[in-house]
Amino acid sequence: MAIEGPVAIILAAGQGKRMKSDKAKVLHEVCGRPMIQYVVDAARGAGAKSIIVVVGYASEQLYSALQNEPDVQFATQTEQLGTGHAVKVCRPLLADYQGPALVLVGDEPLLRPEPLADLLDRQAREAAACLLGTAEIADPKGFGRILRDAAGRFLRIVEERDCTSEEKAIREVNPSCYVFELPVLWEALDQIGTSNAQGEYYLTDAPERLMTMGRKVVALNVLQADDVLGVNTRQHLAQAGAIMQARIQDHWMTEGVTIVDPRNTHIDGRATIGPDTIILPFSVIGGPVTIGANCRVGPFAHLRPGTELADGVEVGAFVEIARSKLEGGTVARHLSYLGDAEVGRNVNIGCGAITANFDGSRKHATRIGDDARIGAGAVMVAPVEIGRAAVLGAGAVVTRRSDVADGATVVGVPARPLKPPRD
Ligand code: UD1
Ligand code: MG
Repeated sequence: MAIEGPVAIILAAGQGKRMKSDKAKVLHEVCGRPMIQYVVDAARGAGAKSIIVVVGYASEQLYSALQNEPDVQFATQTEQLGTGHAVKVCRPLLADYQGPALVLVGDEPLLRPEPLADLLDRQAREAAACLLGTAEIADPKGFGRILRDAAGRFLRIVEERDCTSEEKAIREVNPSCYVFELPVLWEALDQIGTSNAQGEYYLTDAPERLMTMGRKVVALNVLQADDVLGVNTRQHLAQAGAIMQARIQDHWMTEGVTIVDPRNTHIDGRATIGPDTIILPFSVIGGPVTIGANCRVGPFAHLRPGTELADGVEVGAFVEIARSKLEGGTVARHLSYLGDAEVGRNVNIGCGAITANFDGSRKHATRIGDDARIGAGAVMVAPVEIGRAAVLGAGAVVTRRSDVADGATVVGVPARPLKPPRD
């Protein structure tokens, strides 16, 4: 794959020991999506044309997570010798490239494209060999600190483990959002050593190195604390999730959705919701889910991937839906499960009615026609079709392939047509 500038390099080869996980750290999910995916989106949104992800630990997991990203290519860091070394392994891929490289870490899922685009822009205007975005953080624990001289000029980055107690008090930190000019960065990386607390090649030594080489390095405090939260532990993962969730909800509220109790609602970043829809407390909208306008969801609704609610659908308490489409005006108010179902317009799903879609090895589809009435506690064993305006009596069990005709009423176990009353 050809390289086109500006380039982004995303470091993601580390195991993330502090996560205590078999999974690569950057694949842990925030609001339903792996962290690395957000960083790739942010780099692309900032204008990066070629994105190189540095992989190492559990690289197969990363290849498969990013297989559908057309502008991503991989560089392999076989041994995790530090962030400076991680950037260095991109050199063969970038041998012929001259220009800016946005360097990011894969464990900062809250990065947004706009400030990164700004960094690229400023690096070009300043003609700097390195432009470093920094942030001021109330609790800087875990970050490298930015050292400046009395006149406020950037001196160097000190990793927390290598900080004196005075340096630890500095609140301006290194979020690992850099723009480096290539190829001069390669020269600087060749010169950095490993005399630090971790015995690693630190990328954080590169800016100081470039200055000793007589190159221009600028550190600008332009990033927000919320954008640069680095996830190193499960606690950080929960914090990042909470901030991302607030962003997602803020977006939908701006679009006209009522969220009655934001703290007790979870909405996946891939869901879409129409205006005037009301989300009641304790609802989980997980994964790619489409909700139309004027719907009512919850309390305690669980909408799983592939759920599509047309306008004016009501889904109430303890209703779970997966891979199913409900047309306009349909109501499932209490205690139902609908899986692999296509439900028409103005259908009433009675309390506790369910589709039995799984036969122990395979999932099967259920179709329910417009205006059907599904009685309380009815079970529809898939594959099965319920006709238009058909009625299922309370507790009816419609067995597989025993399709119910349009307008028919069936009752009992197994369900059979209700005989018309004699007159
Ligand atoms: C790093 C920075 C620190 C900064 C912080 C911001 C260094 C030395 N320190 O620290 O100044 O404040 O990020 O979040 O750069 N990685 C590799 N290969 C390696 C080592 C790491 O690809 O050999 C990747 C990891 O997968 C991770 C990223 O680089 O995605 C950062 O590594 P991490 O161990 O989280 O560094 P921090 O301690 O957070
Ligand atoms: Mg980190």
